[in-house]
Amino acid sequence: MKRRDFVKLSGLVAGSILSPVGLVQAASTRQNKLTLGIIGCGSRGNGMIRLLNELTGSFTVSSICDVLDFRLKEAQGFAPAAKPFKDYRSLLEDKKVDAVIIATPLHLHYPIAVAALEAGKHVYLEKTMTYSIEEAVKLVAKAKQYPTQVLQIGHQYRYTPLYHKVKEYIQKGYLGKVTQLDCRWDRNANWRKEVPDPSLERQINWRMYREYSGGLVAELLSHQIDFVHWAFNTRPDEISATGGIDYFKDGRETYDNVQVTMRYQKEGMVGNFGATCANEYDGYLFKIKGTKGTVKLLMNEGFFYPEKVHKQKLETVDGVTGATKLTWDKQGGVPILPGSSADKDGTHYALVDFFKCIDEKLVPGSDVSTGARTAITVHLANEALYSKTDQVWKQEYDKL
Ligand SMILES: NC(=O)c1ccc[n+]([C@@H]2O[C@H](COP(=O)([O-])OP(=O)(O)OC[C@H]3O[C@@H](n4cnc5c(N)ncnc54)[C@H](O)[C@@H]3O)[C@@H](O)[C@H]2O)c1
Repeated sequence: MKRRDFVKLSGLVAGSILSPVGLVQAASTRQNKLTLGIIGCGSRGNGMIRLLNELTGSFTVSSICDVLDFRLKEAQGFAPAAKPFKDYRSLLEDKKVDAVIIATPLHLHYPIAVAALEAGKHVYLEKTMTYSIEEAVKLVAKAKQYPTQVLQIGHQYRYTPLYHKVKEYIQKGYLGKVTQLDCRWDRNANWRKEVPDPSLERQINWRMYREYSGGLVAELLSHQIDFVHWAFNTRPDEISATGGIDYFKDGRETYDNVQVTMRYQKEGMVGNFGATCANEYDGYLFKIKGTKGTVKLLMNEGFFYPEKVHKQKLETVDGVTGATKLTWDKQGGVPILPGSSADKDGTHYALVDFFKCIDEKLVPGSDVSTGARTAITVHLANEALYSKTDQVWKQEYDKL
């Protein structure tokens, strides 16, 4: 590695970035708060309300909506002043609501997002953007009819300082030529929620049923798929997959064990995306492997492991210049953005950006077009999984 590269790498490891940290400061200076409605008050909706309660300078949660009474009651605990609704259409009629967060099961994302846009609201729509490719295409077209309204998609890793830094690593070539991506999201649990009444099984455990859900790929791997799109400015050309209901034979329809392989032709890169419900050894894992080194990412912690030859060069340069010695961990890695484990959850930064985009009339980093690219990839992967046929990206998707 040349000295110039070494200096750049040292700066990259320790340095700061303008976005999205800068956005936090920008948002706190606004006078008018945005009035928000939360549609879908399950784990995610309530989690969002708790995060919004830390952003009171920007948002007021004025309305909450859920079809289940006990969920609505739970949400009232986090937003006692909010008006409760059981029908999202009534919430959307409220002219005082500026924006909505949609955190319902996947099959409802599209109809509710369309209704919210038509009602004049700004929309933060949870990932995966839509239940199908057809809906993704239609939502892109729909959003074009409402150019003054923000439609942000909930892929929050695009907003974290750590993942921004890793994108910078990739784009500046510090990993060399990347050929392999290893992404996992594993657990040793059935992925079910407690059901207070058997009649609510499908409503509460919607993730288990294909009528409502895209399973492990849509719910978990979509985040890593989206990050790859963003960091490499790409999308896959070919997708193959295998999987099954291999452990939890409990009436579920979505697979509990999946492996998807994607070929990114332009980058000369293979992406391996896997998830199982029957082993948690790897948990969340994200490795990006290049000729010069590997990035290993957890949610809010990342390490760079130079390949042997580059590590030696780094040490030699270090010895010659007397520059601060990089400290390798036991596995020979160096932390990326030290202290990032203390950073806020990515959703915090995504919400701050949502505010800024509405306030300053900007297009979000995770918008309907990038959301569509990821949704389409997820659905092609699921098509490959369930139909057992390889899938190819269609050129027409690039126009979205
Ligand atoms: N970005 C992330 O990291 C992240 C994390 C978790 C979940 N999510 C996404 O958020 C969404 C919700 O996930 P969850 O874990 O909260 O699920 P959940 O089942 O806990 O919550 C969904 C809620 O929506 C309610 N709902 C169903 N139909 C409705 C309707 N017509 N109107 C209003 N509410 C309705 C349900 O009753 C339930 O309370 C999913 O799309 C999921 O992928 C994103």
